[in-house]
Amino acid sequence: MSEVLQKLRSASEAESGSGTIANALPMPLMLLGRRTEVLYANPAAEQFFDTGLPLLRKQTLSDLIAPHSPLFQLVTQAAERNASAAERNIDLSTPRQGERIVDVTVTPVPEPEGAMLLTFQERSLAQRMDRQLMARGAVRSMHGMAAVLAHEIKNPLAGIRGAAQLLEESLAPEEREMTQLIVAESDRIRGLIDRMESFGDTRGFVRHSVNIHEVLDRVRKVAESAFARGVTIIETFDPSLPPVLGDRDQLIQVFLNLVRNAADALPEKGGEITLTSGYRPGVKFGAGVAGERVSLPLEVTVRDNGSGVPADLLPYIFDPFVTTKVRGSGLGLALVAKIVGDHGGVVECDSQSGRTIFRVLLPQARGGES
Ligand SMILES: Nc1ncnc2c1ncn2[C@@H]1O[C@H](COP(=O)(O)OP(=O)(O)O)[C@@H](O)[C@H]1O
Ligand SMILES: [Mg+2]
Repeated sequence: MSEVLQKLRSASEAESGSGTIANALPMPLMLLGRRTEVLYANPAAEQFFDTGLPLLRKQTLSDLIAPHSPLFQLVTQAAERNASAAERNIDLSTPRQGERIVDVTVTPVPEPEGAMLLTFQERSLAQRMDRQLMARGAVRSMHGMAAVLAHEIKNPLAGIRGAAQLLEESLAPEEREMTQLIVAESDRIRGLIDRMESFGDTRGFVRHSVNIHEVLDRVRKVAESAFARGVTIIETFDPSLPPVLGDRDQLIQVFLNLVRNAADALPEKGGEITLTSGYRPGVKFGAGVAGERVSLPLEVTVRDNGSGVPADLLPYIFDPFVTTKVRGSGLGLALVAKIVGDHGGVVECDSQSGRTIFRVLLPQARGGES
C-alpha cells in the first residue's frame, strides 16, 4: 500500500482520532485514485460532501461534483504536469449544500500510481471569518481605548469646563462666546466618551429563544415611524424559521442599524428595503472554538437599492469610525459586528450600486434553551 495512503488510513482509523494530522485538519482533504475514485477522505471532507467515508469510497469525482466543473480540468492539469495545480473560487454549489466557493489544490502523489491529493478551502467562509475577527478585534481594542480615554480625559475635561465657567463670570458679555464654546465642546467630548464606554460594554447577556420575525417586525415599525418614512419595506420571510438563540433587544439593535444605513443610502424616489429570512442548514463553519464545525442555519438579509458602498471602503465598513456621512459616527456597523459576533454568528456585506445586501447568519436555538 502507498505510504501516503497508509498514513492517511491509519489516521482515519486511529481509535481516538486525536493527534492524527488528516483527522485534525479542519480543511476537507481527499485522496483520489487514477480513475478519480475516492481512496480516502478525512472527516472534514465527509462533512463537506455530506457523505460518510464508506459511501465515499464507492464513488468517483464525477459522483460528487457537477459535470462541467473546472475541478476536472484542474485534476487533468495536475496529472499531465505531474505537479500541484491550484485554482481559486471554484464554484461547488449544490442545491443540497447551498452556495460554496472554494479554493482547491490538486497534488499528484507518487503512490499508488496516478493518485491525487485534493484539498478544499471554503473561501467565502474563510473570508467571512477573517472579516468578522478583524471587526471584533477592532471593537475590543476600541473598548480598551474607551477605558483609557474615560480615565485620562474625563477628569481633566471636567476641570477645563469648570475653569471656563469661572472665567466666563469675569468676562464682558461679548467675550463670552469663546468660553461658551469651550463648555459646549467639553460636553460634546464627554458625550462621545460616554457613548464609547457603553459601546464597549461586554457584560454577558442572557440568551433566550428569540423569534427573529418578531424582531424584524419591531424594527420595521420603528423605522417606518422615524427615519424610513415613506420608504417601501418589503418582507420575504420563511414562516417555518426556527427561533434564534440570543438577546432580543440587541438583535433589534442589529437590524435597526442595518435598516437605518439602508434608508440613508436610498435615492429620493423609488427607494426600497427588503428584509428576508431563510433556513439554510447546510451552512457550516470550520472555525468554532475547538475547531469544531458550527452550524449557522438562520439567514436574515437586509437589502436596499441605494447608492451602494464605495468599493474601496467595503473591507473596512465594520471597523469603528469608518463613515462617509457628514454626521455619521461610523459605529453602527461596528456594533452590528460585535453583537452578531457575541451571538456566535457572522455578518457580511455584498454591495454594488443599486444593490446592497447585508447578510446575518445566526445559530439556531435548540430545544430546552429558553
Ligand atoms: N446600506 C448601505 N448602503 C451604502 N453604504 C452603506 C450601507 N451601510 C453602510 N454603508 C457605509 O458604511 C459606512 C459605515 O456605516 P456605519 O458603521 O453604520 O456608520 P454611519 O452610518 O454612522 O456612517 C457608512 O458611512 C456608509 O458609507
Ligand atoms: Mg449607520
